[in-house]
Amino acid sequence: MRHTTLAPHFVQLHHPAAGASHPELVAGLLETPARIAPKFFYDALGSRLFDAITELPEYYPTRTEAAVFAQHGADMARHVPEGAVMVDLGAGSCAKAARLFPVLQPAAYLPVDISVDYLRDTLAALQQRHPELPMLGLGMDFSARLSLGPAAGAWLAERALAEQPRLVFYPGSSIGNFTPDEALALLCQAHAVCRSGGAGGGLLIGVDRVKPRAVLEPAYDDALGVTAAFNRNLLLHVNRLLGADFAPAAWRHVGLYNAVESRIEMHLQATGAQTVRWPGGERAFADGERLHTENSYKWEPGAFEALLREAGFGEVRHWTDAQGWFSVFWAPA
Ligand code: AVI
Repeated sequence: MRHTTLAPHFVQLHHPAAGASHPELVAGLLETPARIAPKFFYDALGSRLFDAITELPEYYPTRTEAAVFAQHGADMARHVPEGAVMVDLGAGSCAKAARLFPVLQPAAYLPVDISVDYLRDTLAALQQRHPELPMLGLGMDFSARLSLGPAAGAWLAERALAEQPRLVFYPGSSIGNFTPDEALALLCQAHAVCRSGGAGGGLLIGVDRVKPRAVLEPAYDDALGVTAAFNRNLLLHVNRLLGADFAPAAWRHVGLYNAVESRIEMHLQATGAQTVRWPGGERAFADGERLHTENSYKWEPGAFEALLREAGFGEVRHWTDAQGWFSVFWAPA
Protein backbone atom coordinates (compact mmCIF):
# COMPACT_ATOMS: atom_id res chain seq x y z
CA MET A 1 0.00 0.00 0.00
CA ARG A 2 1.31 3.49 -0.88
CA HIS A 3 1.22 6.27 1.70
CA THR A 4 1.07 9.80 0.36
CA THR A 5 1.78 12.86 2.49
CA LEU A 6 -0.64 15.70 1.97
CA ALA A 7 1.20 18.96 2.58
CA PRO A 8 -0.77 22.12 3.37
CA HIS A 9 0.14 25.26 1.47
CA PHE A 10 2.17 27.84 3.33
CA VAL A 11 3.09 31.48 2.75
CA GLN A 12 5.87 32.92 4.88
CA LEU A 13 5.66 36.71 5.16
CA HIS A 14 7.57 36.97 8.45
CA HIS A 15 11.32 36.23 8.35
CA PRO A 16 12.83 36.53 11.83
CA ALA A 17 16.52 37.04 11.06
CA ALA A 18 18.88 35.99 13.87
CA GLY A 19 21.56 38.56 14.65
CA ALA A 20 19.77 41.34 12.71
CA SER A 21 19.37 44.88 14.03
CA HIS A 22 15.67 44.71 15.08
CA PRO A 23 15.18 48.45 15.68
CA GLU A 24 11.81 47.93 17.43
CA LEU A 25 13.39 45.59 20.00
CA VAL A 26 16.36 47.88 20.61
CA ALA A 27 14.12 50.95 21.00
CA GLY A 28 12.07 49.14 23.67
CA LEU A 29 15.16 48.01 25.54
CA LEU A 30 16.45 51.58 25.68
CA GLU A 31 13.19 53.05 27.01
CA THR A 32 12.55 53.71 30.71
CA PRO A 33 11.00 51.49 31.88
CA ALA A 34 12.42 49.03 29.36
CA ARG A 35 9.94 46.90 27.45
CA ILE A 36 9.83 44.02 25.00
CA ALA A 37 6.65 43.42 22.95
CA PRO A 38 4.82 40.18 23.88
CA LYS A 39 4.97 38.91 20.30
CA PHE A 40 8.61 38.00 21.08
CA PHE A 41 7.38 35.27 23.47
CA TYR A 42 6.51 33.07 20.53
CA ASP A 43 9.57 31.31 19.22
CA ALA A 44 9.12 27.52 18.88
CA LEU A 45 9.85 26.89 22.59
CA GLY A 46 7.70 29.86 23.68
CA SER A 47 4.76 28.50 21.69
CA ARG A 48 5.16 25.12 23.43
CA LEU A 49 5.45 26.77 26.85
CA PHE A 50 2.26 28.69 26.10
CA ASP A 51 0.53 25.40 25.24
CA ALA A 52 1.70 24.09 28.64
CA ILE A 53 0.30 27.20 30.36
CA THR A 54 -3.11 26.44 28.90
CA GLU A 55 -3.10 23.12 30.80
CA LEU A 56 -2.25 24.62 34.19
CA PRO A 57 -4.93 24.46 36.90
CA GLU A 58 -4.53 28.19 37.57
CA TYR A 59 -4.85 29.29 33.92
CA TYR A 60 -8.64 29.36 33.62
CA PRO A 61 -9.06 31.23 30.24
CA THR A 62 -8.45 28.30 27.87
CA ARG A 63 -10.70 25.79 29.57
CA THR A 64 -13.37 28.39 30.33
CA GLU A 65 -13.47 29.48 26.71
CA ALA A 66 -13.57 25.81 25.62
CA ALA A 67 -16.58 25.32 27.90
CA VAL A 68 -18.32 28.31 26.30
CA PHE A 69 -17.72 26.84 22.83
CA ALA A 70 -18.84 23.38 23.98
CA GLN A 71 -22.04 24.72 25.52
CA HIS A 72 -22.96 27.36 22.93
CA GLY A 73 -21.17 26.22 19.75
CA ALA A 74 -24.40 25.08 18.09
CA ASP A 75 -26.03 28.44 18.79
CA MET A 76 -22.96 30.26 17.45
CA ALA A 77 -23.15 28.16 14.28
CA ARG A 78 -26.63 29.62 13.62
CA HIS A 79 -25.00 33.04 13.19
CA VAL A 80 -21.68 32.13 11.59
CA PRO A 81 -22.10 31.69 7.80
CA GLU A 82 -21.81 28.22 6.33
CA GLY A 83 -18.89 27.45 4.04
CA ALA A 84 -16.80 30.32 5.35
CA VAL A 85 -13.10 30.88 4.84
CA MET A 86 -11.93 30.60 8.45
CA VAL A 87 -9.03 32.94 9.19
CA ASP A 88 -7.53 31.90 12.54
CA LEU A 89 -5.47 34.70 14.11
CA GLY A 90 -2.57 33.59 16.34
CA ALA A 91 -3.51 29.99 15.54
CA GLY A 92 -0.60 28.37 17.44
CA SER A 93 -1.43 24.66 17.74
CA CYS A 94 -4.63 25.19 15.64
CA ALA A 95 -6.43 23.04 18.25
CA LYS A 96 -9.23 25.50 19.08
CA ALA A 97 -10.24 25.98 15.46
CA ALA A 98 -9.97 22.25 14.71
CA ARG A 99 -12.41 21.45 17.52
CA LEU A 100 -14.92 23.79 15.87
CA PHE A 101 -14.60 22.39 12.30
CA PRO A 102 -17.50 19.92 12.81
CA VAL A 103 -19.80 22.66 14.13
CA LEU A 104 -18.82 25.59 11.91
CA GLN A 105 -18.09 23.57 8.73
CA PRO A 106 -15.64 25.99 7.09
CA ALA A 107 -14.86 25.71 3.37
CA ALA A 108 -11.18 26.54 3.94
CA TYR A 109 -8.85 27.15 6.87
CA LEU A 110 -6.23 29.92 6.94
CA PRO A 111 -4.27 29.96 10.20
CA VAL A 112 -2.04 32.99 10.80
CA ASP A 113 0.85 33.02 13.29
CA ILE A 114 4.16 34.79 13.88
CA SER A 115 5.70 31.52 15.13
CA VAL A 116 6.36 30.35 11.59
CA ASP A 117 8.07 26.99 12.17
CA TYR A 118 5.63 25.96 14.87
CA LEU A 119 2.65 26.78 12.64
CA ARG A 120 4.19 24.92 9.71
CA ASP A 121 4.54 21.76 11.85
CA THR A 122 1.14 21.90 13.52
CA LEU A 123 -0.61 22.63 10.23
CA ALA A 124 1.09 19.73 8.48
CA ALA A 125 -0.28 17.38 11.16
CA LEU A 126 -3.75 18.96 10.98
CA GLN A 127 -3.92 18.65 7.20
CA GLN A 128 -3.33 14.88 7.54
CA ARG A 129 -6.35 14.67 9.84
CA HIS A 130 -8.55 16.78 7.53
CA PRO A 131 -7.37 15.95 4.01
CA GLU A 132 -10.62 17.27 2.50
CA LEU A 133 -10.30 20.80 3.93
CA PRO A 134 -8.15 23.24 1.92
CA MET A 135 -5.58 24.83 4.26
CA LEU A 136 -3.19 27.70 3.76
CA GLY A 137 -0.80 28.69 6.56
CA LEU A 138 0.26 32.34 6.76
CA GLY A 139 3.45 32.92 8.73
CA MET A 140 3.17 36.61 9.50
CA ASP A 141 3.21 39.30 12.18
CA PHE A 142 -0.36 40.57 12.05
CA SER A 143 0.24 42.83 15.08
CA ALA A 144 2.02 45.16 12.65
CA ARG A 145 -0.79 45.03 10.09
CA LEU A 146 -3.50 42.49 9.37
CA SER A 147 -4.19 41.80 5.72
CA LEU A 148 -4.28 38.45 3.98
CA GLY A 149 -2.20 39.69 1.05
CA PRO A 150 -2.13 38.85 -2.65
CA ALA A 151 -0.74 35.30 -2.29
CA ALA A 152 -3.69 34.27 -0.11
CA GLY A 153 -6.07 36.07 -2.51
CA ALA A 154 -4.67 34.11 -5.45
CA TRP A 155 -4.82 30.83 -3.51
CA LEU A 156 -8.51 31.45 -2.68
CA ALA A 157 -9.32 32.47 -6.26
CA GLU A 158 -7.69 29.31 -7.66
CA ARG A 159 -10.04 27.26 -5.46
CA ALA A 160 -13.11 29.35 -6.32
CA LEU A 161 -13.29 30.50 -2.68
CA ALA A 162 -12.83 34.22 -3.25
CA GLU A 163 -16.54 34.94 -2.86
CA GLN A 164 -17.07 32.77 0.23
CA PRO A 165 -17.76 34.75 3.43
CA ARG A 166 -14.80 35.35 5.72
CA LEU A 167 -14.93 34.20 9.33
CA VAL A 168 -12.16 35.78 11.36
CA PHE A 169 -11.58 33.62 14.43
CA TYR A 170 -9.59 35.22 17.25
CA PRO A 171 -9.93 33.10 20.39
CA GLY A 172 -8.04 32.98 23.68
CA SER A 173 -8.39 36.67 24.57
CA SER A 174 -5.24 37.46 22.62
CA ILE A 175 -6.90 40.81 21.88
CA GLY A 176 -6.16 41.51 25.56
CA ASN A 177 -2.46 41.67 24.76
CA PHE A 178 -3.08 44.96 22.93
CA THR A 179 -3.82 48.33 24.52
CA PRO A 180 -7.39 49.51 23.87
CA ASP A 181 -6.15 51.84 21.09
CA GLU A 182 -4.12 49.09 19.44
CA ALA A 183 -7.03 46.68 19.86
CA LEU A 184 -9.32 49.11 18.05
CA ALA A 185 -6.85 49.43 15.17
CA LEU A 186 -6.56 45.63 14.88
CA LEU A 187 -10.35 45.17 15.04
CA CYS A 188 -10.74 47.73 12.20
CA GLN A 189 -8.34 45.65 10.11
CA ALA A 190 -10.18 42.44 11.07
CA HIS A 191 -13.39 44.15 9.96
CA ALA A 192 -11.83 44.87 6.55
CA VAL A 193 -10.79 41.21 6.23
CA CYS A 194 -14.35 40.10 7.13
CA ARG A 195 -15.73 42.41 4.45
CA SER A 196 -13.31 41.18 1.77
CA GLY A 197 -15.33 38.01 1.00
CA GLY A 198 -18.99 37.25 0.35
CA ALA A 199 -21.91 38.52 2.46
CA GLY A 200 -22.42 37.27 6.01
CA GLY A 201 -18.82 37.40 7.23
CA GLY A 202 -17.84 38.39 10.73
CA LEU A 203 -15.60 38.01 13.73
CA LEU A 204 -15.79 35.29 16.42
CA ILE A 205 -13.59 36.48 19.26
CA GLY A 206 -12.86 35.26 22.79
CA VAL A 207 -12.40 37.90 25.50
CA ASP A 208 -11.33 37.47 29.12
CA ARG A 209 -13.38 39.44 31.63
CA VAL A 210 -12.63 41.50 34.72
CA LYS A 211 -12.69 39.29 37.82
CA PRO A 212 -11.21 39.15 41.33
CA ARG A 213 -7.44 39.56 41.74
CA ALA A 214 -7.37 36.24 43.64
CA VAL A 215 -8.33 34.45 40.41
CA LEU A 216 -6.33 36.61 38.01
CA GLU A 217 -2.91 36.72 39.62
CA PRO A 218 -2.31 32.96 40.11
CA ALA A 219 -3.27 32.46 36.44
CA TYR A 220 -0.21 34.54 35.53
CA ASP A 221 2.08 33.34 38.34
CA ASP A 222 1.47 29.61 38.65
CA ALA A 223 2.86 27.26 41.28
CA LEU A 224 4.90 25.18 38.79
CA GLY A 225 6.65 28.21 37.36
CA VAL A 226 5.61 27.53 33.76
CA THR A 227 4.56 31.15 33.23
CA ALA A 228 7.88 32.24 34.73
CA ALA A 229 9.70 30.01 32.22
CA PHE A 230 7.54 31.40 29.39
CA ASN A 231 8.43 34.94 30.50
CA ARG A 232 12.18 34.24 30.82
CA ASN A 233 12.30 32.35 27.52
CA LEU A 234 11.66 35.74 25.93
CA LEU A 235 15.21 36.66 26.92
CA LEU A 236 16.65 33.60 25.15
CA HIS A 237 14.67 34.54 22.07
CA VAL A 238 15.96 38.13 22.21
CA ASN A 239 19.52 36.85 22.69
CA ARG A 240 19.14 34.87 19.49
CA LEU A 241 17.45 37.63 17.49
CA LEU A 242 19.75 40.42 18.59
CA GLY A 243 22.95 38.61 19.57
CA ALA A 244 22.35 39.93 23.13
CA ASP A 245 23.66 38.38 26.36
CA PHE A 246 20.69 38.38 28.75
CA ALA A 247 21.20 35.86 31.59
CA PRO A 248 17.66 34.51 32.19
CA ALA A 249 18.55 33.21 35.67
CA ALA A 250 19.26 36.80 36.77
CA TRP A 251 15.62 37.82 36.20
CA ARG A 252 12.61 37.17 38.42
CA HIS A 253 9.13 36.68 36.96
CA VAL A 254 6.48 39.19 38.10
CA GLY A 255 2.76 38.82 37.25
CA LEU A 256 0.38 41.26 38.91
CA TYR A 257 -3.06 42.78 38.36
CA ASN A 258 -3.29 46.53 37.76
CA ALA A 259 -6.92 47.22 38.68
CA VAL A 260 -6.80 50.84 37.49
CA GLU A 261 -5.92 49.76 33.94
CA SER A 262 -7.92 46.47 34.14
CA ARG A 263 -4.89 44.50 33.06
CA ILE A 264 -2.47 41.83 34.17
CA GLU A 265 1.08 43.04 33.75
CA MET A 266 4.03 40.73 33.34
CA HIS A 267 7.51 41.98 34.05
CA LEU A 268 10.99 40.58 34.49
CA GLN A 269 12.77 42.05 37.48
CA ALA A 270 16.58 42.20 37.64
CA THR A 271 17.88 40.29 40.66
CA GLY A 272 21.11 42.31 40.70
CA ALA A 273 22.65 45.22 38.84
CA GLN A 274 23.66 44.11 35.36
CA THR A 275 24.49 45.38 31.89
CA VAL A 276 23.06 43.62 28.87
CA ARG A 277 25.05 43.99 25.65
CA TRP A 278 24.31 43.37 21.97
CA PRO A 279 26.24 44.32 18.82
CA GLY A 280 26.09 48.11 18.68
CA GLY A 281 24.38 48.73 22.02
CA GLU A 282 23.93 48.03 25.71
CA ARG A 283 21.52 48.70 28.56
CA ALA A 284 22.38 48.87 32.24
CA PHE A 285 19.72 47.62 34.68
CA ALA A 286 19.74 48.48 38.40
CA ASP A 287 19.02 45.83 41.01
CA GLY A 288 15.21 45.42 41.13
CA GLU A 289 14.59 47.31 37.88
CA ARG A 290 11.77 45.90 35.77
CA LEU A 291 11.47 45.05 32.11
CA HIS A 292 7.80 45.13 31.00
CA THR A 293 6.98 42.12 28.83
CA GLU A 294 3.19 41.87 28.56
CA ASN A 295 -0.19 43.42 29.30
CA SER A 296 -3.26 41.23 29.33
CA TYR A 297 -6.33 43.48 29.45
CA LYS A 298 -9.53 42.19 31.01
CA TRP A 299 -12.74 43.61 29.56
CA GLU A 300 -16.27 44.26 30.77
CA PRO A 301 -18.63 42.92 28.04
CA GLY A 302 -20.34 46.30 27.47
CA ALA A 303 -17.02 48.07 26.92
CA PHE A 304 -15.84 45.39 24.49
CA GLU A 305 -19.08 45.51 22.56
CA ALA A 306 -18.66 49.29 22.23
CA LEU A 307 -15.14 48.72 20.87
CA LEU A 308 -16.47 46.27 18.27
CA ARG A 309 -19.13 48.75 17.19
CA GLU A 310 -16.50 51.49 16.94
CA ALA A 311 -14.44 49.19 14.68
CA GLY A 312 -17.39 49.03 12.27
CA PHE A 313 -19.08 45.76 13.24
CA GLY A 314 -22.84 45.38 13.33
CA GLU A 315 -25.12 44.06 16.04
CA VAL A 316 -23.00 42.06 18.45
CA ARG A 317 -24.02 39.06 20.55
CA HIS A 318 -22.03 37.14 23.13
CA TRP A 319 -22.04 33.93 25.11
CA THR A 320 -20.44 33.32 28.48
CA ASP A 321 -19.83 30.65 31.14
CA ALA A 322 -21.77 30.15 34.38
CA GLN A 323 -19.37 32.37 36.37
CA GLY A 324 -19.24 35.12 33.75
CA TRP A 325 -15.45 34.83 33.52
CA PHE A 326 -15.02 34.69 29.75
CA SER A 327 -17.11 35.80 26.78
CA VAL A 328 -17.17 34.80 23.12
CA PHE A 329 -18.53 37.54 20.85
CA TRP A 330 -20.01 37.20 17.38
CA ALA A 331 -19.67 40.47 15.52
CA PRO A 332 -21.11 40.49 11.98
CA ALA A 333 -19.20 42.65 9.52
C1 AVI B 1 -1.91 34.74 24.44
N1 AVI B 1 -2.44 35.52 25.55
C2 AVI B 1 -3.87 35.71 25.44
C3 AVI B 1 -2.05 35.01 26.88
C4 AVI B 1 -2.72 35.88 27.99
O1 AVI B 1 -3.38 35.30 28.84
O2 AVI B 1 -2.59 37.09 27.93
C5 AVI B 1 -0.56 35.02 27.03
C6 AVI B 1 -0.11 34.64 28.40
N2 AVI B 1 0.74 35.28 29.13
C7 AVI B 1 0.92 34.66 30.27
N3 AVI B 1 0.16 33.62 30.32
C8 AVI B 1 -0.50 33.56 29.15
